[in-house]
Amino acid sequence: MSSIEPGSFVKARLVLWTIVLLVFFGACTSEQKQRYYTIAFSQCVESDDWRKTMLQEMNRELAFHPNINFLYRQADGNSQKQVVQANELLKEDPDLFIISPNEGEPLTPVVKQAFLKGIPVIVVDRKVATPHYTAYIGSDNYEIGKTAGQYAVHLLKGKGKIIEITGLPKSSPAIERHNGFADAIKNYPSLQVIQQINGEWLPETAKIELSKIAARYPDVDLVFAQNDMMAQAAYEVFKNMVGIKPYIIGVDGLPSTGLKFVSDKTITATMLNPTGGEEIISTAVKILNKENFPRENLIQTTVIDSTNVRIMQLQVAKAASQQSQIERQENRLEEQKRIYNNQRTFVYILVSSLFLSLVLGGLAFYSLQQYRKISKKLQIQNQEVLEQQAQLVQMSEKAKAANEAKVNFFTNISHEFRTPLTLILGPLEDLMASNKNQYNTSQTIGLIQKNVMRLLRLVNQLMDFRKIEVDKMKLKASENDLIVFVSDIIQSYKSIAQKRNIDLRLITKEPHLNIWMDVTMLDKVIFNLLSNAFKFTRDNGYIHVYISKNENSNNAVIKVEDNGMGMSKDALEHAFDIFYQGEYENYKGSGLGLALSKNLIELHKGSITVASENLKGTTFEIRLPLGSEHLAKDERVNSSPEAINLIRYEHEKIYTADLTTEPTVKPEVESSQTKKEYTVLIIEDNADLRQFLAKKLNTQYEILEADNGQTALQQAFDHIPDLIICDVVIPGKDGLALTRIIKTDFRTSHIPVVLLTAKTSIEQQIEGMKNWADAYVTKPFNTLFLDQTIKSLLTNRARLKEHFTGETPVALNTQTISKPDRKFVSEFTALVESNLSNEDFSVDSICKNMGISRVQLYKKVKALLNMNVNDYILNTRLQKAKYLLKNESFTIAEIASRTGFTSPAYFSTVFKTKVGVTPKEFREK
Ligand code: FRU
Repeated sequence: MSSIEPGSFVKARLVLWTIVLLVFFGACTSEQKQRYYTIAFSQCVESDDWRKTMLQEMNRELAFHPNINFLYRQADGNSQKQVVQANELLKEDPDLFIISPNEGEPLTPVVKQAFLKGIPVIVVDRKVATPHYTAYIGSDNYEIGKTAGQYAVHLLKGKGKIIEITGLPKSSPAIERHNGFADAIKNYPSLQVIQQINGEWLPETAKIELSKIAARYPDVDLVFAQNDMMAQAAYEVFKNMVGIKPYIIGVDGLPSTGLKFVSDKTITATMLNPTGGEEIISTAVKILNKENFPRENLIQTTVIDSTNVRIMQLQVAKAASQQSQIERQENRLEEQKRIYNNQRTFVYILVSSLFLSLVLGGLAFYSLQQYRKISKKLQIQNQEVLEQQAQLVQMSEKAKAANEAKVNFFTNISHEFRTPLTLILGPLEDLMASNKNQYNTSQTIGLIQKNVMRLLRLVNQLMDFRKIEVDKMKLKASENDLIVFVSDIIQSYKSIAQKRNIDLRLITKEPHLNIWMDVTMLDKVIFNLLSNAFKFTRDNGYIHVYISKNENSNNAVIKVEDNGMGMSKDALEHAFDIFYQGEYENYKGSGLGLALSKNLIELHKGSITVASENLKGTTFEIRLPLGSEHLAKDERVNSSPEAINLIRYEHEKIYTADLTTEPTVKPEVESSQTKKEYTVLIIEDNADLRQFLAKKLNTQYEILEADNGQTALQQAFDHIPDLIICDVVIPGKDGLALTRIIKTDFRTSHIPVVLLTAKTSIEQQIEGMKNWADAYVTKPFNTLFLDQTIKSLLTNRARLKEHFTGETPVALNTQTISKPDRKFVSEFTALVESNLSNEDFSVDSICKNMGISRVQLYKKVKALLNMNVNDYILNTRLQKAKYLLKNESFTIAEIASRTGFTSPAYFSTVFKTKVGVTPKEFREK
């Protein structure tokens, strides 16, 4: 399945934001080119109009430079204060420093220091005593003084008395204006400055100082005040003094002061002294922008008196109106700029939004396309899933039908089995009754009957299971006495118990115990438990059935306890699993009985449990609820005793038939039978199979039987049989271990062993052969094949023996000598045969091995074989040598060694003596 990749969204978003940022960034770049500057301005005083005008002009010019940050301090005409303020301003690290010093000397160090630090310094109006500054802007004060002097000469026509009112004597304008004035009048000796007073640039000071001396000079003709404010103060002083009306000349010529005073005729004239505010800022900008600028900027002066004051005023008014117009224009421009900025921002936003809409629209379109594609795909997938679902439903229906058909077939077939089984069983019982005296036939028929019963039981159990599975097994409970019920069943096992000497008992304190039960079901359960107990309990053991009442749990408890083989932990865990067949090869059941029992007890709302210990015994415990409250209404019925009896009869037959170990009719002792040449030991724990084999073989061989490992070994050593047939899985020791013991003990090592088992795997067979077995026959076996196997093993053994003892003077007559003697001869000959190649083998080794004395050995060998022991050994060696000379390609020397002769020469000598020819000649014959 595909989907819109999240990566494509991220990419689209990234592109979008980049474009938006670029648009805004582009919009800002033109403004970003401007650098920002800080200009610091230290003003000496600001109270008068001249200084106010200067500041106004500077601010007007600064309005054109919004990138300039303007720091401003004024010192109230106090030089000390100005030094402190100037230093504070310099600490702000300005890009340019402007100073208008109150007095030259006190402020000089600050200027020099700033300049040397690399800060451009513009000195304004008043000068400092150092060349360490960047630029100076101010009026030509010497020129102002000189123009004023020349005007005074003109007014007084070269003769008269003058009072001079100066500014601060240490400030440069005061000095320069004085010098200019003095120089202009020095050529007119009749023109005298009769008094000079210090007005400190302030009208108040000037008024006070002038008032002190004015009365002394009633003949004064002219007053030269170094600024218009002090000139007006002089007017004030002389105004009220009768007869004294001197000319008054001032400096500055501001519209609000000088021009007005001239126009009002309070003063005679004023020397124009522009503040230079605009020039100061424009020069500062040039310096900051690294443009060319003049270092010394001296502003020129002119005289304003009654002749030109009007024009000057008009010009000023015009300039003022132009200025205000400019300002209005500026404001308008500013407004337009603001509008433009707003509109530009708006346009940016509009363009961005448009672009954004376009991109988003594109994205939305793309998403829609993807969405359509995906939903189409999903639709197809959905369709596929639906089809698959339908197929699955179809398949499961088919599987269900097939399973049902299989189960039905299985049930029907099981059911079909019953009829032929019953038809076999009936005639069988008739046959058994009519053939009582013919042991063999009766035994065969008995075997058939047992197995028919087994099949019948199996078929019944399978059918019950089917019923439980399809929920058709319904409980039909009636009230019955459990004690009577169980003891009746026990009765069915009494004869078997007696025959096998098993202590079978019902143990209970209750005389009666009525419970609600389905007799058909409980019958099967109890029969099954008892049959199991009998299967796994040895003869002489016990099987105890306990019945009790548990008032606390309101239960009836039935326990079936035996001291049989018990179960391993693993078997115990799976005891109630369906098709679990148990651990004992020959006691394997169908795996149905206990599973079915559990189901049946659970239908009763009861429980069944098992406790067991390997080789010690097993106890099954059933708990059934008392009363009838646990039963549904349709689960309660009235039972008829006939029905119980009918079921009981069938159950007794099919559950106890295969427990009988002995044939139904005892065989007559076949005393007339002659002794057979060979004895065969049959080791098999399944009594039926053992007897079947015995019956098959006893026409040709003497038969010995054993049903467990211990008895088998005992029989083998006691009787030294000629052949052993052994089952692989037997109680006690298993067949493989048993074979190993038989094959490694010299007394029995020569006996051929045929292993018999249901295990067919090749690994099992290899394992059998590894343990020295001579043949391996798997169950179910063909009796003819077994017969043939036994015969060929016995003939091979005899042929071999012939090779060794072919010329033995006395042939063993197995039919005439006793069994213990046969055993002795077997042991003796086997010992000699297995030691033929052993040079050190002697009479002593035989005695030691057989546990008898020399005398016993000689006597016994003489009696049984009519031969001297040494002769027998020598004879056997020569027989084997003969066999090897004729049948094998060994050298003479090798044969000598293999038959126990110390040297080939000695072998040849002995051979020649006994046989008449040399070994070489014998071979060539
Ligand atoms: C103002 C003023 C002016 C004068 C100038 C000299 O403070 O006194 O009137 O021309 O300073 O520095």
